[in-house]
Amino acid sequence: MYNDLQGATVIITGAATGIGRAMALRFGREQANVVINYLGGEQNVEPMIREIEAAGGRAVAVKGDVTNEADVKQLIRTAEDRFGSLDVMINNAGIENEVPSEELTLDNWKRVLDVNLNGAFLGCREAIRSMLERGVKGRVINISSVHEKIPWPHFLHYATSKGGIKLMTETLALEFAPKGIRVNNIAPGAIETPINGAKFADPEARAAVEAMVPLGYIGQPEEIAAAAAWLASSESSYVTGITLFADGGMTQYPSFQGGKG
Ligand code: BGC
Repeated sequence: MYNDLQGATVIITGAATGIGRAMALRFGREQANVVINYLGGEQNVEPMIREIEAAGGRAVAVKGDVTNEADVKQLIRTAEDRFGSLDVMINNAGIENEVPSEELTLDNWKRVLDVNLNGAFLGCREAIRSMLERGVKGRVINISSVHEKIPWPHFLHYATSKGGIKLMTETLALEFAPKGIRVNNIAPGAIETPINGAKFADPEARAAVEAMVPLGYIGQPEEIAAAAAWLASSESSYVTGITLFADGGMTQYPSFQGGKG
């Protein structure tokens, strides 16, 4: 537990399921004020609020689409009105789908870029505005992917969006460091979440992914939430502009394991 997260206000987008949900519950255990943004997974929200409150945190849920400017503004306003100010913004909402690139439609391309990259941009911009207005030395955490670095055939739109998040994070870190606002990125690898539900339910596909992870297993959402808690806390006070890879070593060229090459 990081003592300085107690009473801090944290917004998490796409927080009703997967990594977002694990982060919301983790910040609840840190006794933070958690603003749960969601679009899908509505049925999870009430039990999450109860769990956060039982852990000594406070929570409010705001339904909204991260690609909609008015919704994002409303999300920030809710955090300010309810809890006073915004300390930590986590841009987590994301989507993916598989399609060979020569068949990728413009609509599909635009939709993935819109949620993953434009949504994160709106979250960054509105959070930073709020922090600047109130003189908050806040933290922004973007959730990218190992695919900000690893090319991913059939996921051209997804990988492109995550590469964009990397440079957006670095640029904002540089721009707002003088104000004491830290902007960092977490790149999860293969994590046990609904986005991967079908793939990991198939034993063969699961084993193929596990073989690409030097630590040998599919990560749990809580292992990403732990990275987010550290980046949000003052334990990471000298860290800005990084990508923290939480991927079991997936980005360390696993095919070279055993001295091959
Ligand atoms: C994707 C997963 C994938 C993992 C590793 C993540 O960004 O969401 O579907 O398994 O990267 O390739």
